[in-house]
Amino acid sequence: MAATMAPPATRETTAPTVARSAEAQREVLTREILDLKRRLNAVILAHNYQVPEIQDLADFVGDSLGLSQQAARTRADVIVFCGVHFMAETAKILNPEKLVVLPDKEAGCSLEESCPAEALAALQRTNPNFYTIAYINCSAAVKALSDVICTSGNAEKIVRAAPADRDLLFVPDENLGQWVMEQTGRPMTLWRGHCYAHVEFRRDSLLRLKAQHPQARVVVHPESLREVRELADVICSTEKMIQWCKASPDREFIIVTESGILHRLRKECPDKTFYCAPTYDVGRMPTDACRCSECKYMKLNTLEKLRDCMRRLEPRIELPRDVLERARRPIERMLEISARP
Ligand code: 13P
Ligand code: SF4
Repeated sequence: MAATMAPPATRETTAPTVARSAEAQREVLTREILDLKRRLNAVILAHNYQVPEIQDLADFVGDSLGLSQQAARTRADVIVFCGVHFMAETAKILNPEKLVVLPDKEAGCSLEESCPAEALAALQRTNPNFYTIAYINCSAAVKALSDVICTSGNAEKIVRAAPADRDLLFVPDENLGQWVMEQTGRPMTLWRGHCYAHVEFRRDSLLRLKAQHPQARVVVHPESLREVRELADVICSTEKMIQWCKASPDREFIIVTESGILHRLRKECPDKTFYCAPTYDVGRMPTDACRCSECKYMKLNTLEKLRDCMRRLEPRIELPRDVLERARRPIERMLEISARP
């Protein structure tokens, strides 16, 4: 009898203790990070997909466009970039004299991987009239080969501003490229890359969720497949998703992007309900499987790794001088076009 009574008693007492100690550890780490930030004169920039505890202590949380605008204007000596590698590289290109660190140097991106600079250079040689527009999710070496950079927040504007007499080459996201072609009517040669996380969202599973919540508006990131984009009430960058949901008179939303964004949405719209879009578990399950989509790269960053990178000032972004110089111009061109009314 005593043996059967014991387990529930143990569970009841340990669960709150574990939660309390995790909370206490988070507080200690947060204090240490904020102290290091002051001593280093650092700024902490975080992408909308970062874990909540990082978002909550960052100086700025936003999409790729907002983060590059912040990086371009910061007066800090050290930039601590909580996002993926190409984002931290962009901050370094804009601030070659500053120290840029990121919590985990393995935080890559499937889009960046899909487009090696040598392969892009070979394609560019086939048509001297190409005007290359690179989605910011690419390496510094690819940026250095490009005429202009874009993000999901300004891709349409950047393509509309491209010279009319040039043949447009859009790299590396074919889904974003397709969507921008539909918006602008401008034909483009598309690189065949994709975001491994966004292409897991599928039409059928989204339709099933929509049937359960018929009032919900569908908010989709343009890295998603066309079959999913066709179901959208709005297609936009992560930052615009937040602004759109805030301004909307509707109360329920299905969010088709990485689940990290739900933290900000729920914090900034506490009276609204957000559902994470389901994904199709490609190759692993015989039928649709509903699970929230997480970017395995974005989720490599933790509070502990953030503290460690600020203590050691490693891993840091270092780039060859010529790449830094050549990659800067297309990013500045993007910032300049983006600022136009
Ligand atoms: P946003 O610029 O819309 O935040 O997108 C970045 C990204 O990596 C999407 O997967
Ligand atoms: Fe890259 Fe996709 Fe992760 Fe964004 S969500 S960083 S595009 S792999």
